[in-house]
Amino acid sequence: MNPRPSLALLLTALTFSSSAATLTIQTGLPGARINPAMWGLFFEDINLGADGGLYAELVKNRSFEFPESMMGWSKISPSKARGTLAIRTENPFNAKNPHYLRMESEGKDLFGVSNEGFRGIGVRQGEAYHFSAQIRNVTGNARLRIELYSSNGALLDTVRIERLASEWTKRDIVLRPRLTDAKAKLYVLMDGAGTVDLDMISLFPENTWKQRPGGLRADMVQILADMKPGFLRFPGGCIVEGSELDKRYQWKKTIGPIEERGLLINRWNYEFLHRPAPDYYQSFGLGFYEYFQLCEDLGAEPMPILSCGLACQFNSGEQCTPEQLDTYIQDAIDLIEFANGPSNSTWGAKRAAMGHPAPFNLKMIGIGNENWDQPYIDRYARFHSVLKKKHPEIQLISSAGPQPNDKRFHFAWPKLRELNADIVDEHCYDTPNWFFENANRFDSYDRKGPKVFFGEYAAQSDKVVSVLNRNNLECALAEAAFMTCMERNAEVVRLASYAPLFAHEEGWQWRPNLIWVDNLRSYGTPNYYVQQLFAHHRGDVVLPVKLDAASGKKLYASATRDDATTEVIVKLVNGDTQAAALEVNLAGAGKVGAKARLLLLSGDLRDENSFEQPRKVAPVPGELSVNAPRFTHTLPPNSLTVLRVVANK
Ligand code: AHR
Repeated sequence: MNPRPSLALLLTALTFSSSAATLTIQTGLPGARINPAMWGLFFEDINLGADGGLYAELVKNRSFEFPESMMGWSKISPSKARGTLAIRTENPFNAKNPHYLRMESEGKDLFGVSNEGFRGIGVRQGEAYHFSAQIRNVTGNARLRIELYSSNGALLDTVRIERLASEWTKRDIVLRPRLTDAKAKLYVLMDGAGTVDLDMISLFPENTWKQRPGGLRADMVQILADMKPGFLRFPGGCIVEGSELDKRYQWKKTIGPIEERGLLINRWNYEFLHRPAPDYYQSFGLGFYEYFQLCEDLGAEPMPILSCGLACQFNSGEQCTPEQLDTYIQDAIDLIEFANGPSNSTWGAKRAAMGHPAPFNLKMIGIGNENWDQPYIDRYARFHSVLKKKHPEIQLISSAGPQPNDKRFHFAWPKLRELNADIVDEHCYDTPNWFFENANRFDSYDRKGPKVFFGEYAAQSDKVVSVLNRNNLECALAEAAFMTCMERNAEVVRLASYAPLFAHEEGWQWRPNLIWVDNLRSYGTPNYYVQQLFAHHRGDVVLPVKLDAASGKKLYASATRDDATTEVIVKLVNGDTQAAALEVNLAGAGKVGAKARLLLLSGDLRDENSFEQPRKVAPVPGELSVNAPRFTHTLPPNSLTVLRVVANK
């Protein structure tokens, strides 16, 4: 019940201008509990997201398995040098990656190869870089010289490897560059006459995430951790499906010893003719074990997505036969064992052998990525019927196709409802206006049907797949407006993630993206800070809100309660270019804290972040005097405000 308004409150109320919008929050009528994992991350190896990105390997084509075997490598042969390079497969170091490099030198000068890395090799002054390679001395007594050169040709460090064995042997050395350079090169040179075979030529920073050898790029994981994501969806995206079935992502090929993980072309290598990436391959150094480990590090629920036996329907749409589907379903069953099974089970033992005897606590799996029509429904139904019997504890995510309101979407939903699907994955890439205009989308969703995972969304400042799309504040605010709708409807929308996640500034195929990186740096976009604000200030339970504003105003709101702190958390979006006066009524609250914590994201609609100004658009903390359950606040133009007010009965 509302207490009788105090004089102070009445006086404050008198000052409200007639044009002020009003927001009533029913603090005493808590609604649905919010999924603690609600705001998560969508990861795909697109835009050099994994190889050349999160996976910290600095050498491109380290095992010479690219179809163009010397891609990424160049011959280094000073004028006096005489030598040859050859790619061979006889008696390889590892039969699963059979190609290796043979270097033969007459020894008249240094002779060998350099690697260009992924748009260069990023190194930091004085830090340790671990070089390793499988090496076999065939003839002669040559030594190796391993060197780093800066982009303008300065020697950054040089180390010798001597006494080469006549059998394949892994050799390691450490390089310490004397300068920082985002575009260094690695040289592997023979010093002396002879013949030497080389494979798995690798360079990793010592400073990986958690200092794991062969691990992930520390700054890129840190920025994910800074968002406090509730879940991590992996490994995509369209790469799950493959343009043909043989190019689909097969998780079993991504675990175990690194040198046994075969190479696969990345579909973003050739998908967009206007953004070709001929050197884009998947080494699977970031494989399913590492994804699970990353989830654990981030405190995020793992959400693996598996092929449903349908290749990408934007490409071949190739379908496996009904008999072949058993293998795909078995992959899902085995994955559950790999993640959750005891360490003496077949697949649990593989997890344990990789260093994680304890289960990963997998609770959900996606069946197919962005698939549609009857072939998808048929396949999903088979997965559903087997997995629900065998693993009723696992929630299954099904697909509503690539768009949020087309024929494919309206075909999928009734069928999935009939099948009693757990969670339906909806995708949306559309204009900022679409997001503003649909900020009531879930208000009318059936509360008893399948839940929603809004698994891929991003406002497009131009249009989908356009190279002109920008990560500007207008797009971020449109997403924030839409997120208030998801939050108000957290009973139905259980999970949501922006997509795609990462992009390398020189290696992207798709924009906009949540986080941009180069070889040494990363920064969050305004869209990132919107995600972060919602994730950090999620709250535990939805509070009903009623927003009354003049028609045409771009005002949006949601409210939640934090059980531990008894704070009401209010999210307010003003998408207009004028400030908006707002009267807030915490209905049902007797006592409120004197001061509210405030976080404000605002600026010009075209504002973006960049490497030079990574926090041009970022939340600014502040305080607001409140004192009473009714108070006014003026929302700045183009803004997202998060308010936290302690409120008790
Ligand atoms: O996020 C980029 C792509 O958009 C994803 O791979 C796919 O699922 C969607 O079409």
